[in-house]
Amino acid sequence: MVVLAGPKVKPEEQAGEYRHIGVTRYGPALGAVIDGVDLSQDFDDEVIAEIRKALLENLVIFFRDQEMTPEQHLAFARRFGTLNQHDQVKGMEEYPDIIEVRKEADDERNFGGAWHGDVTYLEEPPLGSILYAKEVPPIGGDTLWSNCYLAFEQLSSGMREMLDGKMVIHTPALIYGVASRDWSKDSSMDSHPNETAHYETEHPLIRTHPETGRKCLYVSGAYTPRLKDMTEEESAPLLDFLMTHLTREPFTCRWRWQAGDVAFWDNRCTLHYALNDYSGYRRIMHRVTINGDRPY
Ligand code: SIN
Repeated sequence: MVVLAGPKVKPEEQAGEYRHIGVTRYGPALGAVIDGVDLSQDFDDEVIAEIRKALLENLVIFFRDQEMTPEQHLAFARRFGTLNQHDQVKGMEEYPDIIEVRKEADDERNFGGAWHGDVTYLEEPPLGSILYAKEVPPIGGDTLWSNCYLAFEQLSSGMREMLDGKMVIHTPALIYGVASRDWSKDSSMDSHPNETAHYETEHPLIRTHPETGRKCLYVSGAYTPRLKDMTEEESAPLLDFLMTHLTREPFTCRWRWQAGDVAFWDNRCTLHYALNDYSGYRRIMHRVTINGDRPY
């Protein structure tokens, strides 16, 4: 049974810890809304430190009513690290560090339409991504996030012991490899099945967050087909259980987008899922992804 551990800090106490930004908790499991911040501006280091603290404490943070040029979006992201260029999806012509997550009214498939962490198959997967809503459907197209610390903490001690030290194989092959569905045929994403997606990396199944020191489950949907030294068939029951567990409703929050919203998530301890329930409408988002470190 999932028993959701209550927050250690009450919302009003947490808000008091910030001098430059407003932080209001959004979901019981994760998420906070940040106020008093205009992301088109340059910030003092102290403000950036508070935004980073809010991210580490809440895992995904939301900013409403923003107006940013692509240059301002990139400049904000660079305050948190170097930027990642997606190895399988072409970035915008003028801004290769920005992926345009576009779904046209008659596209069938949406980008990110299954629970996953971003490009976890890299040797050094991202710290996080900053997603800016440019155009959203009148209804639908929400995004969900899940808290991978909570999911880990709510496993039994026996299960945690059994998983300890296990390694998982990550690969882009199923989504972008030669036998994958061609994104350019049923979606507006610029990506084609290709050989370069046929590589594998291995990461610990339980990772320690490099900044908080907390442990979390680190499994990433279709990017993680098997455990190291096991077949896919042998791995499936455990990985299926872990993905179901990781995405239980009490571990999640759901954001209803308005144009101008920005979500910044910590990709090291969350998964996310973009719903594909707005057929007949266009949805356009700009995503910038910040490099991270090798998981341990
Ligand atoms: C993604 O997986 O990065 C896309 C999320 C979204 O479009 O909501």
